[in-house]
Amino acid sequence: MSNASDAAVREHFTRMFHRDPGVVVSAPGRVNLIGEHTDYNGGYVLPMAIPQRTWVAVSHGRDHQARAASRNLGGGDRIREFTVGGEVPTKSWIDYVQGVTQALRRDHHALRGFDLAIVSDVPLGSGLSSSAALEVAVLRGLRDLFGLELDDVRLAQLGQIAENDFVGAPVGVMDQMAASLADDRTALFLDTRTLRYEQVPLPPGGGLVVINSGVAHNHASGDYRTRRAECERAAAALGVPQLRDLGSADLPRVAALPDPLDRRARHVVTEDERVLESVAAMKAGDLRRLGELFAASHASQRDDFEVSVREIDLLVDLAHAEPGVFGARLTGGGFGGSIVALVEAAASAVIGERVARAYQERSGHTPTILVPQTHPGM
Ligand code: GLA
Repeated sequence: MSNASDAAVREHFTRMFHRDPGVVVSAPGRVNLIGEHTDYNGGYVLPMAIPQRTWVAVSHGRDHQARAASRNLGGGDRIREFTVGGEVPTKSWIDYVQGVTQALRRDHHALRGFDLAIVSDVPLGSGLSSSAALEVAVLRGLRDLFGLELDDVRLAQLGQIAENDFVGAPVGVMDQMAASLADDRTALFLDTRTLRYEQVPLPPGGGLVVINSGVAHNHASGDYRTRRAECERAAAALGVPQLRDLGSADLPRVAALPDPLDRRARHVVTEDERVLESVAAMKAGDLRRLGELFAASHASQRDDFEVSVREIDLLVDLAHAEPGVFGARLTGGGFGGSIVALVEAAASAVIGERVARAYQERSGHTPTILVPQTHPGM
């Protein structure tokens, strides 16, 4: 991971475009505390920002020509170009930038050409939303550069539209809302149907450990699509618009669905309730209960929704074996990626290192500890 900062992105911009940038902004990656695969079902989520961020520096360009250079996203020092208004998918990172300009134009915002540099320390393929961080950072940069009238919620929605319609990933709105609205001290309790949200701080004494397993499966986006389709079939079979419209009283009906739709729907219905209970536990300062909910969420993702993998289960088990850990779970879309553990704040650094070391010995994979951040800016 390389260092990402205001200074680093200014330097990259100047190196690539031979002048100083006009606007410098950033957006964070996110860790979801609980509420997984609920967002595209109209349900509840509870993400928080992580300290790692994507930085963007941008200035006016010529006519409608967009030029972009990224220090971390592959392609080395190459400048990529496209015409604003003539976006064409290329299956590379530039599609996130093109998706954003297309979404902005379709939303009737006047854009012209620009030069843009990107520097990020949000790890790719880690379940920590590097794509939403990029979309939201680019949207913030263009909002400032062109003086666009765009509030933070609309900005998040446009990030999701870019990813759905241009990149072609059928994601929900959680990650863009987190990148646009969350910070790394309070969780964002979000109702993805109404987009109403509330900031809920971690209880005193509570801390987080986030570890990237170093495992990322290339079938993840296909499996994500399959899970989403299964949820839609389950909702249709139960006669509701979305699984969000069901509660625990409906679980006997859910159990009567054919396998695997029964388990998929049970995960979503119980996960929504776990989010609500988690918010109550946080407000009551009940770290023990919150940890139990993390553990129950992981079991549900592993057994019912089937989005975990061996390495992630190992990380969660190792975390659960450590003193000072209240509960741990897979965070993000799954099929690899990262875990989040709720821990005693004072012990978080020690716990992170012990779990990461044990995982490396047992799995042979190289983990990365993202939270707590031991070397800020690295
Ligand atoms: C990915 C998607 C989100 C959400 C999560 C699972 O991160 O981008 O919209 O569906 O998976 O909770």
